[in-house]
Amino acid sequence: MLIAGNWKMFKTAAQTISFCAELRKRLHGVRDVEVVVCPPYTSLDEAVRVLAGSGIEVFAQNAHWEREGAFTGEIAPAMLAEIGVTGSLVAHSERRQLFAETDGSSARRIGGALDAGLRVIACVGETETEREAGETENVLRRQVEAIAAAVDEEDRNRLAVAYEPVWAIGTGRTATPEQAEEAHALIRSLLDVPLLYGGSVKPENADELLTQPDVDGALVGGASLEVDSFVAICEAGARASRS
Ligand code: 13P
Repeated sequence: MLIAGNWKMFKTAAQTISFCAELRKRLHGVRDVEVVVCPPYTSLDEAVRVLAGSGIEVFAQNAHWEREGAFTGEIAPAMLAEIGVTGSLVAHSERRQLFAETDGSSARRIGGALDAGLRVIACVGETETEREAGETENVLRRQVEAIAAAVDEEDRNRLAVAYEPVWAIGTGRTATPEQAEEAHALIRSLLDVPLLYGGSVKPENADELLTQPDVDGALVGGASLEVDSFVAICEAGARASRS
């Protein structure tokens, strides 16, 4: 069971230090769940420092595929690894929708991050229009197959996929446990790696989502920004992995 908090463009370095110090204290002794935080680039160093030795891992929110080069505004996977970051999100729907990320560029980013020894959480999910048009299965199939093609067999143990229906992100409209399970079962049939659900996960719905057979964790946005709600979701993850 893996619970990851995607902070998106929230928290300064100073806020990161106090959040991580509190998180570390509150999760001390919580077992049966892997916990990851994904701060913005400017907070990664502080998060790594404050969480060192706690078992809580720090991932970036994106990574470029090259080791270095003339790519203004990008960060190389090796630069992340050097400061103690152990993984990265890739292909979040906000990257796909707002920053023109494609299946092709996502695949290159996944390959680059895995080659540098990082873990990867690769995101997929349909928009509301696609769901209403009955396109969900085709969209997921296309996105997951692009990810699968980018990953060598020996690197699969460092890959997870997050199913984040775009209509559920930041909207308070969570997928029902049945909708999440249906999508996860399809993804699992295409690529058998740990599968996280994301989209308005909160302490109130975490138990029913995390106990679905093909749900192996959660990628949490808004509710990962407060220690109380994030810890409650991590505890739900621990319960689900014991059940
Ligand atoms: P919310 O939990 O705020 O809906 O965000 C989900 C998400 O995008 C996590 O990556």
